[in-house]
Amino acid sequence: MTAASKEPFEGHKKLERNITLLGIAAFVAVAIGGIVEIAPLFWIDNTIEKVKGMRPYTPLEQAGRDIYVREGCYVCHSQMIRPFRDEVERYGHYSLATESMYDHPFQWGSKRTGPDLARLGGRYSDEWHVQHLIDPRSVVPESVMPTYAFLADKDLELGDPAANLTALRRVGVPYSDRDIERAMADMKAQADPDADAEDLAERYPKAQIRDFDGDPGRLTEMDALVAYLQVLGTLVDVNSAAAQEELATEKGR
Ligand code: HEC
Repeated sequence: MTAASKEPFEGHKKLERNITLLGIAAFVAVAIGGIVEIAPLFWIDNTIEKVKGMRPYTPLEQAGRDIYVREGCYVCHSQMIRPFRDEVERYGHYSLATESMYDHPFQWGSKRTGPDLARLGGRYSDEWHVQHLIDPRSVVPESVMPTYAFLADKDLELGDPAANLTALRRVGVPYSDRDIERAMADMKAQADPDADAEDLAERYPKAQIRDFDGDPGRLTEMDALVAYLQVLGTLVDVNSAAAQEELATEKGR
């Protein structure tokens, strides 16, 4: 710039030389960016597309999930299939955001000493799971997974399932009043082949109702954990749901 040319941005010059003014202006600029990003989240109902088939866990599945978390299964197992060819070919359709919307806390994980479990449901029989949890090396000789035989001996502590569901409802899981009222009965009915579970099946579509641990006389921690493992990834028809999510993304949500 030659000495003769007139400085066209007098105002900007002032701004750049005054640290306080520059600070305030920078703050205002960043705040506008922040508000544009964050504010809409408070007004839109949902940041995740609603997809057909997704429902909250039954009380028994939820109890199994609590055991899964308690035992630290997530230390070795992830529950999120990433959209890469090798993962999709090994584990099945990549995970959708919807599929973990009722997980508190989510179990995505980042460590895979063992395989991803996001689409485990229905892949093995209950007997296989029970045998594998009791003694992993009896079915997979090279396995380094610990044994969890005690789960089959331990009666499931029923606790207060209604209170659990109420807590989950407070963080956004849509349990109905009837789900909460019937929580204890549902918990027992799901693993009891002789129980009348019609009402349970109606409120929790695709609920698998049977004795899971091979011991119909008892409700054990094994029942709950296997019920949970068998529901993983089975609720949503992923192909139609993925198409719906992609459409929503294209529309720009
Ligand atoms: C120390 C790491 C470790 C922990 C902790 C662990 N696993 Fe595993 N798991 C493995 C490994 C390794 C395999 C693969 C070999 C096998 O099938 O046993 C595996 C396999 C599995 C499989 C078979 C998956 C498939 O697709 O073949 C299931 C189901 C499973 N684990 C469930 C669990 C559950 C439930 C828990 C908690 C109670 C648990 N694991 C805890 C390491 C672990």
